[in-house]
Amino acid sequence: MTVFMNNFDIESKLTLRRLLPRLKKTLADQISSDPKGWDEFNQRLNQHFESLFRSYFTIYGDRYDFFFHLEDLLHGLAQAWFQRPADLRQLDDARENDPLWFQSNQMLGGVCYVDLFAGNLEGVRSKIPYFKELGITYLHLMPLFKAPEGENDGGYAVSSYREVHPPLGTMDDLESLARDFRNAGISLVVDLVFNHTSDEHLWANGAKTGDEDFQGFYRIFPNREMPDLYERDLREIFPDEHAGAFTFFPNLFKEGGWVWTTFHSYQWDLNYSNPAVFNRMAGEMLFLANQGVEVIRLDAVAFIWKQLGTNCENLPGAHLLIQAFNLVARIASPALLFKSEAIVHPDDVVKYISPAECQLSYNPLLMALLWNSLATRKVELLSQALFTRFNIHPETAWVNYVRVHDDIGWTFSDEDAASFGINGNDHRRFLNEFYRGRFEGSFARGLPFQENPKTGDCRISGTCASLAGLEKAIKEEGPAEIELAIRRILLIHGVILTAGGIPLIYLGDEIATLNDYSYLDDPSHARDSRWVHRPKADWEKYARRNDSLTVEGRVYQGLKKLVELRKQNEAFSGGSLRAISTENEHVLGFVRNSANHRAVIFANFSEKPQTIPARVLEQASNKQLNCLHSFSAPEFSRDVTLAPLDFLVLGD
Ligand code: GLC
Ligand code: GLC
Repeated sequence: MTVFMNNFDIESKLTLRRLLPRLKKTLADQISSDPKGWDEFNQRLNQHFESLFRSYFTIYGDRYDFFFHLEDLLHGLAQAWFQRPADLRQLDDARENDPLWFQSNQMLGGVCYVDLFAGNLEGVRSKIPYFKELGITYLHLMPLFKAPEGENDGGYAVSSYREVHPPLGTMDDLESLARDFRNAGISLVVDLVFNHTSDEHLWANGAKTGDEDFQGFYRIFPNREMPDLYERDLREIFPDEHAGAFTFFPNLFKEGGWVWTTFHSYQWDLNYSNPAVFNRMAGEMLFLANQGVEVIRLDAVAFIWKQLGTNCENLPGAHLLIQAFNLVARIASPALLFKSEAIVHPDDVVKYISPAECQLSYNPLLMALLWNSLATRKVELLSQALFTRFNIHPETAWVNYVRVHDDIGWTFSDEDAASFGINGNDHRRFLNEFYRGRFEGSFARGLPFQENPKTGDCRISGTCASLAGLEKAIKEEGPAEIELAIRRILLIHGVILTAGGIPLIYLGDEIATLNDYSYLDDPSHARDSRWVHRPKADWEKYARRNDSLTVEGRVYQGLKKLVELRKQNEAFSGGSLRAISTENEHVLGFVRNSANHRAVIFANFSEKPQTIPARVLEQASNKQLNCLHSFSAPEFSRDVTLAPLDFLVLGD
């Protein structure tokens, strides 16, 4: 059955007119104790209801119980708003008045695991002085919610969104940490793992005991008929762990049931075609926002909507859902921003980015192509990506990174590569060989992740430093190679710090943390090579960060310089970038312009000196610029010669 509605504007007005008196009645007590709060809520509800109604209706309008769920949703929004603390309501106003605050050149992101970085939330609090020293203004704490003991995908199997994983602390600790962060100028970022819950979540437990309501929260099938049909078109995400996208659980239904598990078998995909799931997850999201979370990382966004006959990734339904969640935030926690985690084809990545969907997005293409350029010593693909794919909606921002907790997937576009005569598949195979250290002349020490013998597909694990050559240089080579590795680390960080958007540092990389192979001794990690780049923070190494005779010190000091360069120069605000052709296949070039300031950036990806002709400089800027950064003073005749792996920044 399809329900048509043409006059959304009229119908939405009518619907709100019907619903408001009912809300007022059930919320009478709260309204009388917080009349100003109700007015504010009412105003935002009126402002955004039509859009919310439109997306919610498009997703759920053919349900006989649509109106029931819509009322339930509004009720949940109002409840959450009444619980929103006064200081966060103030933040809401401040952000509404300065909606592009996240584009400032003062922004610097960091990401870490609570336990690995500092033991627990109290430990993280004690590191605030360190975050300030580095200049961090945005801190993503990796999943810290209640999760199964043992294997839990680094916390991405959530058993309760309202409880902190007991060893890390409590929800009260998180709330007070968020407040301390705010006072220190740091925005707290956490994940909303909304594609799936753990199989120990209350809802999953309910489903296991036969509760039909909760069975409707997941996608559970009594036999293989539907799973087989779906699997015809699905990609395998964690083929090492289980083939296909479904897992058999003998205790479901009478004869057992097949549960949709895109990732691990203990991560049950939620069923968003059920509006109750949307409403409950909206409630979880607002609960987190009310603890002081300012940015929600929408985990695995590409997978949340499924439709038979498709690959169930990046479907229009996924976008509608995120838009609806976004409207929920605009109404009941306006300060909240979304960051999309879509590690997919670049054409699909950008579809999640807009003020109405995710204001922020990982930039997996830039990340992958930085590593590609280090391996090939060529910038053609990277430069093309800056020319054609970097500029996004002016009210949004990329989150640019070189490493995070996940593997590196080579998500460049085959069509883009083909325009240089590069075959995408062959090239991915080369990159995998290179970063596993199996290609002649490779400097990298990476590990394969989820190698799929059926497709030959594979991704790469490893820390920034080990992938950039430092591990090999220290263990097998010597000072000259160490120097090159340090330059590689700083070079790619230089790009993310100057390209625009929010740069994100995977904490540990700033002191050149190497791979940690001890994960192999832990049975709950041994099967997942991503743990090689998730070591416990080594505070003895951190203690050497100011000693420029050590490798840690050199990387840290080098990075700090780049951070300062960013923060002192307004040219690095905003997100618009002009790529330039440097007439040298090893040198990346781009220009940043903002607030009447200009910076011109050249990055040499080769281990040899490289020259760019004077006319390139002249085209980049008609005024004389000063050298703001380089590793070894460049030679300016009329042309410019950059030292090996140099990162040159010219500016006014
Ligand atoms: C995201 C996370 C990854 C996790 C997956 C499943 O991609 O970044 O670590 O394995 O989601 O939740
Ligand atoms: C897949 C997913 C991505 C996730 C990754 C985890 O590549 O597309 O979202 O981060 O797996 O390894």
